[in-house]
Amino acid sequence: MTLPAPSVYPLDSAVVDGRLSIGGCDAIELAEQFGTPAYVIAEDDLRRRARAFKEALAAAHDGPGHVVFASKAFPCTAVLEIFAEEGLWVDCASGGELHMALRAGFDPERIVLHGNAKSEAELRAAVDAGVGTIVLDGEDPERLERIVPEGVRQRCLVRVTPGVNADTHEAIMTGHADSKFGYAPPTAAAVAHREWEKLNIQGLHIHIGSQLFDLSPFRAALATLAGLGDFPVYDFGGGMAVAYTRHDLPPSPADWVAKLVEIAHELLGRERVLIIEPGRALVANAGVTLYRVEDVKRIGGSEHRGIDMVAVDGGMSDNLRPLLYGAVYEAAIADRMEAPTTTWTVVGKHCESGDVLIRGAALADPVVGDVLVTPVTGAYGHAMANNYNGIPRPPVIFCQDGRAREVVRRETYEDLHDRDC
Ligand code: LLP
Repeated sequence: MTLPAPSVYPLDSAVVDGRLSIGGCDAIELAEQFGTPAYVIAEDDLRRRARAFKEALAAAHDGPGHVVFASKAFPCTAVLEIFAEEGLWVDCASGGELHMALRAGFDPERIVLHGNAKSEAELRAAVDAGVGTIVLDGEDPERLERIVPEGVRQRCLVRVTPGVNADTHEAIMTGHADSKFGYAPPTAAAVAHREWEKLNIQGLHIHIGSQLFDLSPFRAALATLAGLGDFPVYDFGGGMAVAYTRHDLPPSPADWVAKLVEIAHELLGRERVLIIEPGRALVANAGVTLYRVEDVKRIGGSEHRGIDMVAVDGGMSDNLRPLLYGAVYEAAIADRMEAPTTTWTVVGKHCESGDVLIRGAALADPVVGDVLVTPVTGAYGHAMANNYNGIPRPPVIFCQDGRAREVVRRETYEDLHDRDC
């Protein structure tokens, strides 16, 4: 059976006799083969989502347009290679992400270098590599005027802080007036209209926040951009919401892009190069995390506030999002996907009371040794993984047509002291 809509599992996943499979691979067998926790990715989903965004932009916009993968969402060579093959561009927010993108084979022309507080070394690395576009923030223009070789003009966009409040968690809002990102509109206009010797200012950039369901803040932001002059290139950043649970109903890439482009045509004109930078929407629902249940505490009853707990072998070291943003996830027991459920709190194994992955998870009678799966961990899971409590970071497993391959190995205890001098 294919998972019924609305499902938050990968498109290329199924439930057969109550057991979850991803990319044709049985989840329980994956847990046995690769251990837990493990990030499991349906490879086909990555390609399908890349194509969906490219087709959506081509359908909505006659002129040139580019879909740029925000690599911070899943900075992993195998993921980057797939998106390079699919013809996407890539957004790098640091020298490290730039290094990864170049190594994965991205044509430097297709790289967009972002970031507030870029160091001189990062700018130099980008210029040396021939990075196509640098998004200017802070001191970047003055530094680039010193770094870019004589006779070369570096293509740039100017990051604008449009002063809009997107409806999302405060920690992932980036377009508000006191944001640390970008220039306030008058400064942005001054940077964009100045005659630089070595900078070729092509247009303006915004990124107003993440996990956005509603495009109305874009209308306000694009109206601000329209007031700053007329440019050939506009980049609207990322931010499209994904469904973390079956109650979230985000727009499809086609709807989101069509509406965004319609606003752009209306406020900025039709003959423009339009750029979008999805991160999460390309990768989040392509991935799940498999955990092993290590402990079950049935402490229900009034004296314990009715909370029954399942403890798994990971937590805030492989998924920081619940702790950082109060993000809500679902879970299931991977071989009892359709069995009747009761309500549980899923906790991690870290020495931190806040290490709670899910409150109110519907689970089918969990017991120690079960494989517990949390869907929608493809974005910002691997990316923000850490070693708190000496927990080695999980592997990344790609699954397709019933074949599983490890594309990032699990960290070892030796890795934990590998940088000691
Ligand atoms: N472009 C720029 C310039 C960005 O700063 C970002 C995300 C994106 C694109 C992609 O945004 P997305 O489509 O993924 O929402 N760690 C947080 C997300 C921080 C995003 C920062 N910038 C989380 O786990 O939700």
